Amino acid sequence: MDRKHFLKNCAGLAGAGVLFPLLWQSCKGFAYVSHTTEADRIQVKKSDLAEHPFVLIQPANLPAPIYLTKLENDEYSALLLQCTHRACEVRPAVKELQCPCHGSVFSNTGEVLESPAERPLRRFQVIEDGEYLYIK
Ligand code: FES
Repeated sequence: MDRKHFLKNCAGLAGAGVLFPLLWQSCKGFAYVSHTTEADRIQVKKSDLAEHPFVLIQPANLPAPIYLTKLENDEYSALLLQCTHRACEVRPAVKELQCPCHGSVFSNTGEVLESPAERPLRRFQVIEDGEYLYIK
């Protein structure tokens, strides 16, 4: 699901009038950040993570957003939010990322916590350099 579809879904939920404040809060809680792409890497500002437990990046050439979070050990985790079971878009969360299609659950480092997925989420290398993070 791209950002446009995500926002459309949020609007649909809001229009249903069910638990409006709670749903809307969860929808607007996802922080998409801007990025630049150079050669084979994606550059984001490290400060973009300062106010959010995780952020999302939507490169044009990928089928799903990249989830980026800083782990407790001060390393970063960057994951493609595409389920390894049948390619649905995985829902981002602070700790456990769930696939809405068949219920697979992944850790915030991409490992499978609950099947039917058997392979981890695609994980990108993250390199820290000054005020930027480089994802490749
Ligand atoms: S596509 Fe994600 S669990 Fe099936």
